[in-house]
Amino acid sequence: MEFLKSTIKIGLEKPVGFLHISDTHLPKDDPADEKNGEFRAKAEADLIEALEYADRNGLYVLHTGDIMTYWNEKNLKTIDRLFGSRDYIFAVGNHDFCHEGGYFDDPENIERNIKLVAPHFPHNLVFYAKVIGGVNVVSVLNGFFRISEGQLEMLRAEVAKGYPVILCMHVPFFTQEHAAARLARGNCAHLLAPTEEYLACYPEKFQFQRADEMTLRAMEYIKSEPAIKAIIAGHTHMNWEEVLDGGTIQIVTAGTFEGGYAREITVE
Ligand SMILES: [Fe+2]
Repeated sequence: MEFLKSTIKIGLEKPVGFLHISDTHLPKDDPADEKNGEFRAKAEADLIEALEYADRNGLYVLHTGDIMTYWNEKNLKTIDRLFGSRDYIFAVGNHDFCHEGGYFDDPENIERNIKLVAPHFPHNLVFYAKVIGGVNVVSVLNGFFRISEGQLEMLRAEVAKGYPVILCMHVPFFTQEHAAARLARGNCAHLLAPTEEYLACYPEKFQFQRADEMTLRAMEYIKSEPAIKAIIAGHTHMNWEEVLDGGTIQIVTAGTFEGGYAREITVE
């Protein structure tokens, strides 16, 4: 496993360290798939190694979702066993609660699943905020390519508390560069609010990723609010660092799928 290092400079009196993990993808429980066992062992070993690294280095864990390829009892037990009563931030991913990552899934199934997986995580999955070392770390569910009005209101309320904010969400904000790099590896950029130009080359099953008006409004707020310093995300299975229009830093860390990465993030 490889541990990357990034620094976010926001003028804190005392630095605070995080370990960013994403896209562990504990597999579906399908005994017929021979590769499953191998992949499960690798995903679990990566998770254990990352958590041990965090503990050794006094880092607070941020997991930005798709800890599972799809929920099943085995995966939920693994999460319970490995995380125990650990205090960490989780930004739920599309795969954690949607069948096939959300393609053709129906709203009833999605709602049932999110209720089912939620008790296995340490906080509310739709929205959560916690001040850690002078930084307000906020988790927002955007795994279904939407940000709601309620989430935006709660985010504004967190910003009003006056701390610098770091946002954890599963799906990164769209940028041309990230989209082009991701499209070179498939037929979808897997980013939040893809442009019409990009959507035109997505297959039908990914068209639901077109952002709604509310999501666009929330994204504009996030990009223009000076208190929101960084977005920490996953989902594209790429290691990626960039600065959005308006100056917000966006950091994406690949997971088990792409060799096994985690990232130590120092905020100072
Ligand atoms: Fe994902």
